[in-house]
Amino acid sequence: MVAEICTKTFTLNTGAKIPAVGLGTWQGQPGTNDSATLQQSIIYALDLGYRHIDTAAAYDVEVDVGKAIKQSNVKREDLFVTTKLWSTHHDKVEETFLKSLESLGLDYIDLYLMHWPMSLAADGKTPLEHPTPTETWLSMEAVIKKYPSKLKAIGVSNFSPALLDDLLAQASIVPAANQIELHPMLPQESLMSYCKSKGILVTAYSPLGQQKAPMLTHPVISGLADKYGVSVAQIILSWEVAYGVSTIPKSSNEGRLKQNLTLIPELDAADFKAISDLHKIKGMHRRLCQVNGHSPKYGEKVLGWTMEQLGWEPWDDPE
Ligand code: A2P
Repeated sequence: MVAEICTKTFTLNTGAKIPAVGLGTWQGQPGTNDSATLQQSIIYALDLGYRHIDTAAAYDVEVDVGKAIKQSNVKREDLFVTTKLWSTHHDKVEETFLKSLESLGLDYIDLYLMHWPMSLAADGKTPLEHPTPTETWLSMEAVIKKYPSKLKAIGVSNFSPALLDDLLAQASIVPAANQIELHPMLPQESLMSYCKSKGILVTAYSPLGQQKAPMLTHPVISGLADKYGVSVAQIILSWEVAYGVSTIPKSSNEGRLKQNLTLIPELDAADFKAISDLHKIKGMHRRLCQVNGHSPKYGEKVLGWTMEQLGWEPWDDPE
């Protein structure tokens, strides 16, 4: 089976199509990106065929994303743009959404996500009791109802089934997507089946596990990379698309941008299973995405919330 440019899409519960592979734009820290380089890499990605750009107000790159889109040859209607509401702004959803739209320089946003469930004080650290995630969701519903031509779909990120249950009990709109950390070391099986049962598409962030992920050098993955004649990243991303999630790898490197869109259309069933089982190997079930400068250990607070508040399932801590 030969790797090819992935043009697969998934259909959201709104009926809109979202490309299976998108481009992540998180640069590691807000304010650290070189605007010109970032814009060039986005233009290059759009030329290659990427049709989903994932960004967020908190990444501090919306202006660059918008400029790159404008300079590209891609028509707006052929592109899917996601951005996110940061936790310090849950009490002002409407003005924050309009600000993102202005920063991006776009007429509409395809998908607006609540970046995290917790609302935080202006210091970005202190969790607030209100708005609750469900209260913030109801504000997002009000915004999409008020601006149907400017906002096409709303969703969440980092939500567990418990938080989604609370939200769905009061919601009139089912989130179109839940963007979560997901890769072969963290396949999020129960959250996946929960979202599937509710018609919520899962998007995988940190799909390559950020840097130095143990799966990138694991013999199961490297053996399959040799078998299919592709890189380990291509094996991992091919598995994610086959697993039924849209995935948003990021890279600043032209060759790797191309690799990440060039996937194996169908992995052999035994190979798919071997990758799906990787997390069962002792020590391999891990959260890799860095929050507050490191991958969180199970039980640590994340953005001021306990694991009980987040509803996150346990994972293996690094040795
Ligand atoms: P680089 O920008 O030098 O390519 P994630 O999307 O999971 O957060 O991972 C992003 C990290 O993985 C970045 O450090 C990026 O580095 C690296 N990366 C992206 N694509 C590939 C690839 N095809 N092979 C190896 N590393 C990659």
